[in-house]
Parts: sequence; structure tokens; C-alpha cells
Amino acid sequence: MALQFHPTTFKFHNSPSFALPRSHQLRSHRVFMASSTFNVTSQEIGKDRKPYMPPREIQVQKMHSMPPQKLEIFKSLEAWAEQNLLVLLKPVETSWQPQDFLPDPASEGFHEQVKELRERTKEIPDDYFVVLVGDMITEEALPTYQTMLNTLDGVRDETGASLTAWAIWTRAWTAEENRHGDLLNKYLYLSGRVDMKQIEKTIQYLIGSGMDPGTENNPYLGYIYTSFQERATFISHGNTARLAKEHGDIKLAQICGTIAADEKRHETAYMKIVEKLFEIDPDGTILCLADMMRKKVSMPAHLMYDGKDDNLFEHYSTVAQRIGVYTAKDYADILEFLVQRWNVEKMTGLSGEGRRAQDFVCKLAPRIRKLEERAQGRVKQSSPLPFSWIFGRELNV
Ligand SMILES: [Fe+2]
Ligand SMILES: [Fe+2]
Repeated sequence: MALQFHPTTFKFHNSPSFALPRSHQLRSHRVFMASSTFNVTSQEIGKDRKPYMPPREIQVQKMHSMPPQKLEIFKSLEAWAEQNLLVLLKPVETSWQPQDFLPDPASEGFHEQVKELRERTKEIPDDYFVVLVGDMITEEALPTYQTMLNTLDGVRDETGASLTAWAIWTRAWTAEENRHGDLLNKYLYLSGRVDMKQIEKTIQYLIGSGMDPGTENNPYLGYIYTSFQERATFISHGNTARLAKEHGDIKLAQICGTIAADEKRHETAYMKIVEKLFEIDPDGTILCLADMMRKKVSMPAHLMYDGKDDNLFEHYSTVAQRIGVYTAKDYADILEFLVQRWNVEKMTGLSGEGRRAQDFVCKLAPRIRKLEERAQGRVKQSSPLPFSWIFGRELNV
């Protein structure tokens, strides 16, 4: 059980809805309505759903919320971005590649190495695999995240090969991230423990659905969102590394740990951007931070669907919460960490509106944590549910 945040009230739900899309919280302005009723089969839904539409509602999305005069800020930060962001990228020649962690298909010992891999993964429980698969699918929807970054006014890659520091960062970030899904996908494939066709279908559905982060073409909101998300993935890959070690697969632990280290470096970059925005435009930045937190940071794969389970993302999140890979507590911890990192509490010289936003943001993490503790104390009801990714075997959600 976890909590859901509304602008004025908190509510508890039976699933870890800290990770739910914002569209679940909004009661109006829906442009698309697909059935999200629990246990409705894909055949039944299929009657109303066009094949290219997301599995759930998307509310009307606000666009271009950054005042046009602020475009200048990003133009003036070009040199800063070059000196502060691009230095955080690793050269390709010294970067790790998925092949560094995988059996070499050109080597004599390939079959033996695959056998060893399968031996190592044999004892890992299904709930771990469901979470790792969900993490991998999230990584595999990378085209969506590059698209999202390129919706942001003032920093988008205008040509596909733009030489602005912002565009270079976005392309190189994407190129680094591309290795994550690639490596996890191949490892999971070789393990033989998961239904690859179902996983591949989920990836195709997810990329086709996109995401709705509520960033409004606004780079302030966009970089707050990515700061939060990179830290969230750093935490979850760190936890899958820890659990892989506990289950005896050191190689998988190393893989997840290596990916987590990339996420950390990316988090540093995005946090630096927001830190700079706080320096230049404290009022504008605090208002955006409060706005993002009021809307809640939806997870990038919130529109996940496998053709079977209409609440797949919630179910995967429930398992992730249960095994401690990503929890409501982590959400509060990330917020608290960012508030400290950006020195939000001690910020002075804000407008009245800015001070109210500051107050809201500073009090939010303890509020979330308190509610989470209360939720933990309640009796949890769970029931078995089949996951297509593990050949329909059931897990408690
Ligand atoms: Fe990643
Ligand atoms: Fe990332």
C-alpha cells in the first residue's frame, strides 16, 4: 500500500500509486478514455481501443508554459552547459559496452558461458525477474525519453545534429542510456527465465504509447523531472544489484551496479542544470518545482501494457515496492535529497508566491513519509495475479 498525492489532500490506495500517472488523479479534461477496469480482458477492451492508443487516459496537456523571454536564459547558458554538462559524458572509447558483460558469441566458450549464466539465474525468484523485466522495458522505451527532451523549448535538438551544447548533451545522454536496455535485454534473453515475446510486445506497446510527464515543453519542469527520474533509476538499479548479489548472481549484480553508476552521473548533470536555474531565476524555479511535485512525478513507463493486463504498470510497481526495489519511501527520500541539494529551505529573496511554493516543497517529504508509515501499519490485502512476462505464473500483488 502506498500513497497518492493530490494538491490539497492525500489519499491511500491499494497499489503503490506514488508511481501512478497523473492522469489517474485528474477527473476532467480527458481526451481519450479506455476502460481501466480491473480484470477486463484485452479482447473486451479491444472493441473500443484503437491499436495505437495508450492503455489509459491522457488528460489534455498544457503546452509551452515557459514565458518566451526565458528562452534567453538557455541561450546565455550555452557556454556554461558546455563546461559543466558535456564534461560529465564519458568518451565512447573508454565507455563500457553491453558486450563487456555478456557471453562472447564469437568465442569457443560461448555455450559454456551461457550455461553458467543460466545456472546463476536459475535460483532467482520470479518476483525479482518481474521487476528486472519492468526496469528493462522502462529502459527500452528510450526513444520516448529522447523525444521528451526534444519537446523542451530552448534546449531541443532543432535539426537532429544540432551543435548546441544542450542538443549534444541530449544525444550523448541517449547514446549512453541506450546501453542499459540493450544489456538487460540480452542478459534476460540468455537467462531463459522470461517470456521474450511478451516482453517485446510490451516494449512495442510502450514506445507506441509514449509518456505524459507533464513537463509542458518547459525546460525548468523537464530538468526537474529528469533530476528526479535519474535518481529514481539510480536507486532502483542499485537495489536490483543488491538483490542479485543476495540471490547469488554476482555478474547480474555487477551489471545493475554499472547501470546505476551511469544513472548517478546523469542525475548529477540534471541536478546541476536545476541548481543553475535556481541561481539565475530562484522564483521561477521554485514555482516549477512546486508545480512538478503537486502534479507528482509520474514514472516514465506509466503507460506500460502487454496486451493482457490493463494495470500492468501498477502491478509491476507493487512487486517492486514489495521486494524493496523502488518504494513510496524512496519517492519521499528523492524529494528530500533534491530539496537539500538545491538548498531550497534556505533560499531568500523570493516573492510571496515563491515563499508559499518553498514552504509547500519543504514540508512535502515529511508529509509523504508520515503517510507512508501509516500505510505500512495497515493490513495489506494481496491476491495472486498472472504476469505474462513469466509465462503467466502468478505473483502476489
Ligand atoms: Fe538508464
Ligand atoms: Fe537514466
